[in-house]
Amino acid sequence: MIPDKAPGDDVLHASGDLKKEAHIPSFEKYKELYIKSVESPGEFWGDVAKDFFWKTKYTGKFLDYNFDVTKGEIFVKCMEGATTNICYNVLDRNVYERKLGDKVAFYWEGNEPGDEKTVTYRELLQQVCKFANVLKSQGVKKGDRVSIYMPMVVELVVAMLACARIGAVHSIVFAGFSAESLCERIMDSQCCILITADGFYRGDKLINLKLIADEALQKCRDKSFTLDKCIMLKHLTKEEALSGSLSPPAKRACPDLQVPWNPEIDLCWHSLIGGASEECEPVWCDSEDPLFILYTSGSTGKPKGVLHTVSGYMLYTAATFKMVFDYHSDDVYWCTADIGWITGHSYITYGPLANGATSVLFEGLPTYPDVSRMWEIVDKYHISKFYTAPTAIRLLMKYGSEPVQKYKRTSLKILGTVGEPINPEAWQWYYNVVGEKKCPVVDTFWQTETGGHVMTPLPAATPMKPGSATFPFFGVVPAILNESGEELEGPSEGYLVFKQPWPGLMRTVYGNHERFETTYFKKFPGYYVTGDGCRRDKDGYYWITGRIDDMLNVSGHLLSTAEVESALVEHEAVAEAAVVGRPHPVKGESLYCFVTLNDGINYNQKLEAELKKQVREKIGAIATPDYIQNAPSLPKTRSGKIMRRVLRKIACNERDLGDVSTLADSSVIEQLFENRCCTAV
Ligand code: WT7
Repeated sequence: MIPDKAPGDDVLHASGDLKKEAHIPSFEKYKELYIKSVESPGEFWGDVAKDFFWKTKYTGKFLDYNFDVTKGEIFVKCMEGATTNICYNVLDRNVYERKLGDKVAFYWEGNEPGDEKTVTYRELLQQVCKFANVLKSQGVKKGDRVSIYMPMVVELVVAMLACARIGAVHSIVFAGFSAESLCERIMDSQCCILITADGFYRGDKLINLKLIADEALQKCRDKSFTLDKCIMLKHLTKEEALSGSLSPPAKRACPDLQVPWNPEIDLCWHSLIGGASEECEPVWCDSEDPLFILYTSGSTGKPKGVLHTVSGYMLYTAATFKMVFDYHSDDVYWCTADIGWITGHSYITYGPLANGATSVLFEGLPTYPDVSRMWEIVDKYHISKFYTAPTAIRLLMKYGSEPVQKYKRTSLKILGTVGEPINPEAWQWYYNVVGEKKCPVVDTFWQTETGGHVMTPLPAATPMKPGSATFPFFGVVPAILNESGEELEGPSEGYLVFKQPWPGLMRTVYGNHERFETTYFKKFPGYYVTGDGCRRDKDGYYWITGRIDDMLNVSGHLLSTAEVESALVEHEAVAEAAVVGRPHPVKGESLYCFVTLNDGINYNQKLEAELKKQVREKIGAIATPDYIQNAPSLPKTRSGKIMRRVLRKIACNERDLGDVSTLADSSVIEQLFENRCCTAV
């Protein structure tokens, strides 16, 4: 399944320097370890587990599971019977056993340049213990769910680790979500307490977070669910002395900040933590005790509470972080995601801390105060490993290379991407302009459900192909199925599925195990179904083609949206593209393309003709766009994913858009409706 030798031509290789020190220095080494990981998972992961502290050893099988709905309930268990504590492992173990107390855990960089703070492992541990005691004093116990709705401040990490320390289950809700979304998530997981902040700035925009949190709690009450404790961190409030604050208050004046306060419900983070003890014995948890719930939007219906458990998630995030970013102790790592998404959970909090890494925790935006901010931060902290999303890369690409080249970026060694298929054009820009051809790009495919990277290059071992997530990570066994559920061999395209679990796979949908089974295991018994399409090329490389729901069927030919979009973006005028199907009486579906142009370029018929020609030439006549609409902005989720479901409605002029609560900016919708194309091009 994985070729014996890495292919030699049309691929890019890492430099010799990187290979010298790498954990996995060659493709042969990768292959050898991969076979071990699949054939003897207990042995492979047992080596990873040796780095961690176990209060008691596991008793049964290392990994036990059933993936076949026809044989009974679906389950995955890893190291059942062992007891440990993930907070102990990412903090106490680093401070006391590995003597990393004085090492920087986070460089906090605020929204406003100049707002900054350094936090060591020892300081983080102290704060976590104090806050864990605060939670205990508020009656939070092992197994209770805690809702966290906070901006990107160090206290967000403190809150999540404090939960983990006492065995409570955190449910973080991204601070960009609305009151309605927060209410829905609080109620679904029946949280007993909410932790939030007064407010924060995103670029120029003030977000009155406490006001939204209050609105959410009111909505809960209206639906007869009472949550009567809310702890609020003062992040923007300045009047009082905020001693012990890990993320100092913003320098910017905030006259519009509104902080409603109800003394019967609201509690002040700072007053509570001030009197708390720094001693807090961790609660020893079973491997399969729940660690957290994180909601992921289903393409239809209400969000699913993806549940991850303690030990498997710990081993998997630690190992993927170490090997995919080839982590070494002198690295400074920066992942630009928000902790409110799985990328932040796994690769800002748990993975990096488990390795004792130093990271940047960034509150701001890539475009504020200007489009050089990212590279300014890279130079400021000497970032060596940098992890971001294709949407950010395409956004910055629009402004050309000059804002990047204003900064040196000589510290960079490895670049990562996650979130969507990265079109080769953006990949090349990332590799050539940002990394100056010196840094391998790791295109990491994974999901909230998978806990960590599942298909990814290893930077020194895997020759890269721009746009391909390459090969499986250790322990992961992919297959490509056709519509009838048959495994396809060799070059092929179909459904991406996995044949056996790895430690980090989700365990259930919180409160709805049946939904877990139906969503991921029913369609093809015996497999975990990702919902993504995938192509395998002649060299065995895997190429993710996007969500299956987004596929187009034109005259009986299945086309991936990613493929058509990538062809459009290759045109120099186009910054971003989104393609959807619009029902067609003859062809089944016709192609309706939305294009966002680069800064300063005007849309006209000549360009339209060029774009059509470009797609025809790259993919074939079957993929010729029927409609092209100039779209200055596209509807995206707050994590930057294009909402093609909404675009499909716009293409058909249907006003009933369904649930759009995850939309980042709803004003783009009206604009798009106004500029619809009515006649085919
Ligand atoms: C979906 C999961 C995993 C963290 C961020 C998103 C798409 C993710 C890639 C990639 C192609 C990708 C898939 C997947 N996706 N990474 N490298 N190449 N597609 O987490 O919100 O759970 O979304 O994101 O469609 O199923 P998520």
